[in-house]
Formats: sequence, structure tokens, C-alpha cells
Amino acid sequence: MSVPSENVSVQHGQPLVGAEPYYVPITDEITVFEQCHQHQLAVMLKGPTGCGKTRFVEHMAWRLQRPLITISCHDDLTASDLVGRFLIQHDQTVWQDGPLAIAARQGAICYLDEVVEARQDTVVVLHSLTDHRRTIALEKTGEVITAAPGFQLVVSYNPGYQRMLNDLKPSTRPRFVALEFDFPSETTETEIVAHEGGVSSLVASRLVTLAHQIRGLRDRGLAEVPSTRVLIAAARLHAGGIALERACELAVIAPLSDDETLIAAMNDLITLTLKR
Ligand SMILES: Nc1ncnc2c1ncn2[C@@H]1O[C@H](COP(=O)(O)OP(=O)(O)OP(=O)(O)O)[C@@H](O)[C@H]1O
Ligand SMILES: [Mg+2]
Repeated sequence: MSVPSENVSVQHGQPLVGAEPYYVPITDEITVFEQCHQHQLAVMLKGPTGCGKTRFVEHMAWRLQRPLITISCHDDLTASDLVGRFLIQHDQTVWQDGPLAIAARQGAICYLDEVVEARQDTVVVLHSLTDHRRTIALEKTGEVITAAPGFQLVVSYNPGYQRMLNDLKPSTRPRFVALEFDFPSETTETEIVAHEGGVSSLVASRLVTLAHQIRGLRDRGLAEVPSTRVLIAAARLHAGGIALERACELAVIAPLSDDETLIAAMNDLITLTLKR
């Protein structure tokens, strides 16, 4: 018998009836996702941190009018955390569905973020939901849930962080249609940063130009490059009254590296790009 666990962080989904989550398409990902949903195909989103994967899923759940259940994966996540467990309540044992079982019953979109962080023996419970069976077996109660129409599995990960021992099983990968994400074109990223950061297109385009230059330093040992997310953070600081160069130091440069040579190179890029 399992005891209640804090091992899973889930946002239980309601149909997203509120405002449309802002999302600017990069290529054909909206059409592809809609097709996958219609044909009950699971989707894998691959791409660097902060490039819009989560926002895309929120947007698609809204478009398709499905509840969204998000699970943040980590290496302590167990199959029971996903499927469910018996809990003791008032001297009785009661079954409590896990987020995957809830999503299957509700016909929700179930989004497993950073799926490669979960152990392979945990990820295997997804298999029966990703093929023609569309079922999940609750071994401890004997129930087999058939996923309601509208149920869709979405996983995401950042291939750059993948480690040898932290990969999806070869038998898991082909169960998904893979959509590759990357940072948007300069024009699209400028539009996003202006909208989300509350700055003018001119300021946004300067931030995006800086980001492109810093992204070029990846070959010089920079492990992580500035994402759309950090540009939005810099834009927000600037919109709140902080000088643009200082906002970039705080939100874009300092978080990326502790290496003094790299920081100096990035500060030079700020001087070249923003102080012209
Ligand atoms: N195409 C886009 N349209 C609208 N906003 C976007 C887009 N891409 C990125 N953003 C903005 O960038 C922010 C970061 O994106 P998001 O959180 O979706 O990244 P992610 O790929 O899920 O990152 P992580 O891998 O770290 O979870 C979003 O909150 C949103 O403001
Ligand atoms: Mg995310």
C-alpha cells in the first residue's frame, strides 16, 4: 500500500475556456498538431529551453477545447505517481487516480514536460495509451481504462540536455509524431518579445539582434544560449524602467555563464548592439 506522495506536480485541467493563450506559429506546427489530435496520434515536442513548447501546448488545448493536465517529469517519478494509488482516508483505503488516469477518463490533453527526466520503467506505462489500444491498466484495482475521445498524449524534452543514460527507449520513440522546435526567425521573435515584454518593436528587435549574436557564441563554449524567454524577461525589466543594457546584463548575460571571458565577450556584444 502506498502512502500519499508529493512526488508529482500536476496542474489538473479544466477546458481552457478563457482568453486564447498567445502563440505565434513558427511553421506548420498548428496544422500538424490538429491532424495528430484528429487521428489520435501522440506528439513529441523537441527543442531548446524557452522556445515556446509549453505555450504551444496551452494554445492547442485552448484551440481544441480540451482540458490540459501537465506533469513535470523527474527521476523519482514512479508509475504509481502517473497511474494512481491506494490512499488511507478515515481508516479506509480508497483508490485515487493519478494524472494519467484522470486525463484518460476526461479525454484531456496530457502533457509530460521533460519526459527524458523520468525513468524508462516509468515511461513504459504510456505505451498502451499510444497505440491502437488507447488503454491504461490499473493493476492494483484490476480496472482497464479506455481513453475517452479527445485524450492525447504530448511529451516534450530538450535534446541538448540529453545524457547517455537519460534517453527514451527505442520502443518508446516511434510511438510519437515528433515536432522539432527552435527559436523563431528574427521577425517573429521580435513580434513575440514586443508583445510579451511590453516594449516597442524597435527595442524588441535590438534584443533579438543581441540574442542572435550571442547564440553565435555557442561554438566558443557557451553551453546555454539566450532563449525567447530571457529576452522577454529583459524586455519586461526595461519596460519597468531599467536601462536596456542593464536589463540585458541581468536577464540575458549573467544567468548564462560564470566564465569571465565569455561574459566579457557578451558584454562587448551589448556595447556593439545596444549602445550604437
Ligand atoms: N511562438 C511563440 N508565440 C508566443 N509566445 C512565445 C512563443 N515562443 C516563445 N514564447 C514566449 O516565450 C516564453 C517561454 O516559452 P515556453 O515556456 O513555452 O518555453 P518551453 O519551450 O516550454 O521551455 P522549457 O523547455 O524551459 O520548458 C513563453 O512564456 C512565451 O511568452
Ligand atoms: Mg516548458
